[in-house]
Amino acid sequence: MPQVTLIFSDGERKRFDAPSDKPILAAAKSAGIALASDCEIGDCQTCKAHLKSGSVEFDELAFITLDDDEIEGGAVLTCVSMAQEDVEIELPYVRGHLIPEKKYTMKITAVEALSPTTARLRGELPRNAIFAFHPGQYVNIQVPGSGALRSYSMASNPAQPNNPEFHIRLLPDGQMSNFMRRGDLVGTSVEIVGPKGVFYLREGDDPVIMIAGGTGLAPMVSMLQALAAGVRNALPILLCFGVNRPDDLYGVEQLETLRRQLPHLDLRIAMVEPDGTWTGHKGFVTDLVTEKDITAASRVYLCGPPPMIAAARQRVAGFGVPETAIFAEEFIPSGTATA
Ligand SMILES: Cc1cc2nc3c(=O)[nH]c(=O)nc-3n(C[C@H](O)[C@H](O)[C@H](O)COP(=O)(O)OP(=O)(O)OC[C@H]3O[C@@H](n4cnc5c(N)ncnc54)[C@H](O)[C@@H]3O)c2cc1C
Ligand code: FES
Repeated sequence: MPQVTLIFSDGERKRFDAPSDKPILAAAKSAGIALASDCEIGDCQTCKAHLKSGSVEFDELAFITLDDDEIEGGAVLTCVSMAQEDVEIELPYVRGHLIPEKKYTMKITAVEALSPTTARLRGELPRNAIFAFHPGQYVNIQVPGSGALRSYSMASNPAQPNNPEFHIRLLPDGQMSNFMRRGDLVGTSVEIVGPKGVFYLREGDDPVIMIAGGTGLAPMVSMLQALAAGVRNALPILLCFGVNRPDDLYGVEQLETLRRQLPHLDLRIAMVEPDGTWTGHKGFVTDLVTEKDITAASRVYLCGPPPMIAAARQRVAGFGVPETAIFAEEFIPSGTATA
């Protein structure tokens, strides 16, 4: 039977046997090792890892959201890939950083428009709920009425975990988007499951570069609030924020407040299709980061739609940032793997 060796980002190794017809994630679970995961059908990429040696086979029935270049580069989704021989798999997180997820009931306390295409949802968990998250992580919210699950990153300070806040992009006919438009939501309860994901602010004093597209700003705001409230408030941070149109621009006032709290926060904003009043950068968010912004120690955090992540990854890699210093959360549209 193939042996799987997992290598976590702090060097910790875990080895276990994995039948060649059983997904690595499931085999790890049987061996008592919990790994980061969510959909378990190849869709969300929360279980994404890197194949260091050996070979795996992807479940031929799964519609995975990795592209050919990523697979060629060694990316694997542990939920739908099976070891065909002894393999070594690198995981981009520290095992001890995983917070066990649970289901919570969240009462909606506020819904407000941040821009014509963006809403802020504030919620409250029961006082006795013990919820914790790392800044950058997300939860799944069950859309009342439809039962559909949608993922949203916390945009709030993890120091107040029981009052989470989310930035929600309103799509023309999205299930969650339509729910958000209802106008009578305060007091309504929704089920949330989390925390999820391995996109979280890493420890250390290395300079931080954040590149966010649209509501990809949400986890960055959570990270910035955590930094502003902690001992790392003098960290050099570059936040590049990009939106498509004026209607999509939001959060600038909150970012200005954070800039006052974080003396070394460099804030840059780009708009792809501005109107005549826009005086900032016209173009893509990736234009905002240049080679001279990068140091050998820079850690880069990317969040937003998949094409933006791909472009930003390529840009910073071109400036010499190693793959291990790039952390990304792709807002993969729901149902992509089954489309
Ligand atoms: C890990 C993760 C974290 C996320 N965090 C956030 C967050 O903090 N804030 C946030 O706003 N979103 C976030 N998303 C995206 C979010 O989960 C939903 O996919 C999105 O809000 C649409 O939900 P909906 O129910 O309104 O629309 P749906 O009912 O899912 O979609 C309606 C239609 O719009 C299409 N569609 C879906 N998404 C897009 C898109 N991005 N662009 C164009 N068309 C699209 C669908 O294919 C469908 O045809 C995250 C996604 C992931 C995977
Ligand atoms: S848990 Fe593997 S892709 Fe979602």
